[in-house]
Amino acid sequence: MVTIIKHPLIETKMSILREKSTKPKDFRQILEEIAELMAYEVFKDLEYVEDGQIETPMKEKAPKYVLKRNIILVPILRAGIGMVEGVQRIVPNAHIGVIGLTRDEKTLEPMEYYFKVPNDLEAECVLIDPMLATGGSAKFAIEALKKRGYKHIKLMCLVGCDQGIQTIETSHPEVEIYLSAKDPILNEKGYILPGLGDAGDRIFGTNAND
Ligand code: PRP
Ligand code: URA
Repeated sequence: MVTIIKHPLIETKMSILREKSTKPKDFRQILEEIAELMAYEVFKDLEYVEDGQIETPMKEKAPKYVLKRNIILVPILRAGIGMVEGVQRIVPNAHIGVIGLTRDEKTLEPMEYYFKVPNDLEAECVLIDPMLATGGSAKFAIEALKKRGYKHIKLMCLVGCDQGIQTIETSHPEVEIYLSAKDPILNEKGYILPGLGDAGDRIFGTNAND
């Protein structure tokens, strides 16, 4: 269940993100803008119900629709933070949880160092991370949510590749994946090509050359 969200505004903004000379300030802004555009598609199947009626200024009644479930946005630290504000513009009432992952230096396997997600197990959780490379981080984060009892999980990434998609489809087939681009290659160091480099470094300016 993968949706590649195609839109002229996303395509053109993606080129700015991919361009190596784009500085962190512009990178952050464009990333938020793309996240906001993607959010329309990510939320398009949200269930909503009629909950009474409202009265219009014309003294007429109209149905009052409300979302069936609360929304929790769950960025994976740290790069996922860069997309949250854009998504929140579309769903300002969403709650925020965070999952902090780091990698074991020897095995490169993800390890959880922080988990703080609102305790609403019926909520619609949208896991957010710009990169779906091997898929190891997203797989781990989905497991972290599931083992605490969260049931409704979507995965929203900016750029993915076949390996990452397969990892999620195999381990969590019910989780819908949303991407704005699927790139052809994952290199031997686990970087997506052509990709956009190290998303965390480009957002936070941690590489002195960016
Ligand atoms: C990046 C990215 C994902 C992960 C994707 O984070 O933001 O979390 O790599 O790779 P994977 O699909 O192979 O697991 P990174 O580990 O660089 O940490 P950072 O967010 O702190 O930069
Ligand atoms: N993480 C990144 O930040 N970029 C990649 O290309 C792959 C993993």
